[in-house]
Amino acid sequence: MSQIKHVAIIMDGNGRWANNRFHPRIWGHVRGSAVVSDIVSTADELKLKTLTLYAFSTENWSRPLEEVSTLFKLLKKFLIKEKDRILSNNIKFRVMGDIDSLPTETINLIKEMEGLTSGASGLNLIFAFNYGGRSEIIRSVNLFQKMNPNKVLTESDLNQFLYCPEIGDVDLMIRTGGEQRISNFLIWQMAYAEMYFTDTKWPDFTPKEFCEIIQKVSRRERRFGNVSDQNQLGESMSKAESNKLTFALEAGL
Ligand code: FPP
Repeated sequence: MSQIKHVAIIMDGNGRWANNRFHPRIWGHVRGSAVVSDIVSTADELKLKTLTLYAFSTENWSRPLEEVSTLFKLLKKFLIKEKDRILSNNIKFRVMGDIDSLPTETINLIKEMEGLTSGASGLNLIFAFNYGGRSEIIRSVNLFQKMNPNKVLTESDLNQFLYCPEIGDVDLMIRTGGEQRISNFLIWQMAYAEMYFTDTKWPDFTPKEFCEIIQKVSRRERRFGNVSDQNQLGESMSKAESNKLTFALEAGL
């Protein structure tokens, strides 16, 4: 469908969505987890290669205990509810982040699902859970140094020690909820990502809006630090001219 293969989403606005309806914040997360299921199905239908969802950041521990434990429970519920669908759709499930501090039951469920889907060749579905971009980079550098004490670190070395090295760079980052920042999410992998911010709060986000965003962003020209295709064409047409100029400069004319 498009050049966009890896989409990462900051699913923001759950708390405000609930508060606007005079409900506690956790209602927003509960409603938001139903939207997660819809968007995973859509990503699968669109044949995206990777969908990375920011479900719990390392900073989210400072939220009220009830909210933190609701988010843990929702992850567990999602894995139980969606297990068959994930398996039958050949989806490869991974969690990126420090999962050691999660409840044992949740860790076991995550590991079970990762194990069952490790050979899947469809959509890579990644939940960033207890995840922080800076700590992922520091972790990677430390792991590298431990194994290679005398080697100078390169970009590909750092890539190799990320939580999910196989997912590569993000093509498109969507943030719902009206804020315009990246909040320590995939900061290494987003170096050349297209950004899209929508005012829609996550519980109101629909597959239709998701598809429209992908369509809109697919029309953007991505240059990765290069010049535009148009300019490149112009340049290659005047290659002879440019050779002449180089010759003249070298000859001191
Ligand atoms: C930010 O909204 C959202 C989160 C911190 C968590 C996102 C979690 C879900 C969408 C549900 C979890 C689902 C699964 C399957 C794990 P916010 O609460 O900061 O919203 P606000 O900015 O309106 O306060």
